[in-house]
Amino acid sequence: MNHKYFRSLFPVLNTHIYLASCSQGALAQPVSKAIEEYHNSLLLTGRNWSESLNKLEETRTKFAELIGADLDEIAVVSSVSEAISALATSLPDHQKKNKVVFTEMDFPTVGHIWFAQEPIKEHISIIRSSNGEISLEQYEHEVTMDTLITCIPHVNYYNGFKQDIKEIADIVHRKGSLLLVDAYQSAGQK
Ligand SMILES: Cc1ncc(COP(=O)(O)O)c(C=O)c1O
Repeated sequence: MNHKYFRSLFPVLNTHIYLASCSQGALAQPVSKAIEEYHNSLLLTGRNWSESLNKLEETRTKFAELIGADLDEIAVVSSVSEAISALATSLPDHQKKNKVVFTEMDFPTVGHIWFAQEPIKEHISIIRSSNGEISLEQYEHEVTMDTLITCIPHVNYYNGFKQDIKEIADIVHRKGSLLLVDAYQSAGQK
């Protein structure tokens, strides 16, 4: 990979050290060009459904390659909030396995979505951070056999704290909980 070449695609990097990797992430020239082309196609030719679907499929394929997933594991949605809402509203209804664990380091909208779920809000457990970090022992303690799903950020949005997904997955899966990882700030990075 040519590091210099990839950096040159992001004009803002000439003048800034850019740490945000989110909806306000640095814009790359090819992305800017694609937005412009899409805008122009709307102006000049109007709706182009099949072209849009082709682009969507291309994007799914590339994203599957990026994260090492199969194509049928990739769904494209408009935002993380939409994705988490879709998951939160389609969880199985278990009387004895109904606890939802998320962390203080999740993006605020993630917590709002869990609290907005009527059947879930009585069974929420929030893992607190200490000095901007969360320890594996906290997962060991908070995730219990009645946990249905554990929701965590991979990289924290305000201090960059990176969690050990493999270790957390081992703990969470051992307790029979699903693991939902918000990789918004980490996808595409080592
Ligand atoms: C880690 C993380 N999760 C979720 C979100 C919210 O994403 P969206 O606006 O796509 O719902 C953000 C936004 O910056 C984020 O950094």
